[in-house]
Amino acid sequence: MSIFVFKAPNKIIYGLGSIKNVGEETAKYGKKALIVTGRSSTKKSGALDKVLNSLKENKVETIVFDQVESDPSVDTVEAGTKVAKEQAIDVIIALGGGSPLDAAKAISIMLTNPGKLIDYENKAPEIEGIPVIAVPTTAGTGSEVTRFSVITDTKRKIKMLLAGDTLIPKVAILDAELTITMPKDVTAATGMDALTHAIEAYISKVSQPASNLYALSAIKIISSNIIKAVNNGDNLEARENMLFGQMQAGLAFSNASVALVHAMSRPLGAFFKIPHGMANAILLPKVMEYNRASVPEKFKDIAEAMGENTSNLSLREASKLAVKAIKNIYDETGLPKTLGEVGVTEDSIETLAKDAFKSGSTLLNPTKASIHDIIKIYKDIY
Ligand SMILES: [Fe+2]
Repeated sequence: MSIFVFKAPNKIIYGLGSIKNVGEETAKYGKKALIVTGRSSTKKSGALDKVLNSLKENKVETIVFDQVESDPSVDTVEAGTKVAKEQAIDVIIALGGGSPLDAAKAISIMLTNPGKLIDYENKAPEIEGIPVIAVPTTAGTGSEVTRFSVITDTKRKIKMLLAGDTLIPKVAILDAELTITMPKDVTAATGMDALTHAIEAYISKVSQPASNLYALSAIKIISSNIIKAVNNGDNLEARENMLFGQMQAGLAFSNASVALVHAMSRPLGAFFKIPHGMANAILLPKVMEYNRASVPEKFKDIAEAMGENTSNLSLREASKLAVKAIKNIYDETGLPKTLGEVGVTEDSIETLAKDAFKSGSTLLNPTKASIHDIIKIYKDIY
C-alpha cells in the first residue's frame, strides 16, 4: 500500500442536544468569542440563542458578526476580520450553513497569516488560524470538517477555493435539531451537494482507502435518507442520518478532493448565483454518465451502496445502475432539471467552460476532460 494522510478536526461531537457542549468547548480556547453567522435564519430558528446561552453559562464573552450572505464575498471576510481584530477575540464559532462556516474559516486564517485573502487563492495559508468551532445548521457542505473554504471574489466573478490543513476547524458540533427548520428546497439542494461530495471523493484520482470508507458509507446513508428528509422535514431520524452522512462525505472529500461536478458548478454560482447544491444536482447525473466508463468498478460499488442489486449483472450493466439510481433520487427531490430553468444564458457557456476547465478539481476527474467535453455537458443539460 502507498502512504496516505487523512486529516480531520481534533474533535467531532455529534448527537441530538450536542449544541449544549458549545460553551464548554469554546471556553477551552479562550474567554472572548466571535460568532460568525448569517443575517437571519439562526436567529429565527433559535440556534443563535442556544449558542449564546451556552457561552454565557461558561462565562465566555461574545461578539456576533451576523453579516454573512450566501456565497460569502471577499469583502464580507475582510469586514469580519476587522471586527475580530478590533475586539481581540480568542476563538471563532461558525454557526449556520456552508456560507458562514466558510467565511469563519477564512476570517480565522486572515487573523494570523500575512497579506490579503486573494493571496491564498493558489497558496495554502501556512500559519494556524484562530481556533474555529464549527456548528452546521444545514446538512450538506461538510465544511465543519473540511480543509476548504469557498469565497467569492465579486469583482472578478470567481469562486475562490481556499485550501489548506490550517483551515480545518478544531471542533465540529453536529446537532440535527438545528437542521429541522431547513426549508424543503434547501434540504434537497444541500443533500444533493453532500451526495456529490461522496461520489466525487470516491471516484477522484486521489481517493484513498480511508476516504473511500467514509465516501461509500456517506453514499449509503444519504441516498436512503435524503428524500425522507425532503418530504418530511420534521423526521428527526432522517435529519440525524443526513447530518451524519454529510459529515462523512465532508471527511471523504476533504482528503480525496472533489472532481468535475464541482469544477463546473462553481462558475454557475459565481456568474448566475445558482445555489451551490442546486448547481451540483443539475450537473451530477450527466457528469456521472460521462465518467462511468472510466471507472466502472467504482460505479458498481456506488450502485451497491445505494442498495441496487448487481448480482448476475455484467460490470457494465452494474455500473450503469449507479447513474440510474442517482437520476431517480434527483427526480424525487423536485429540484430544477436544466440550466435554462435556473437562468443561465446559453451564450455564457463558453465562458463557464473556460472557468471550469482551469479548476484543480477538473484535473482529478477520472475522465480527462477537455474544454469541448465541458461545453458539451453544459449544452446537454441546458
Ligand atoms: Fe460542494
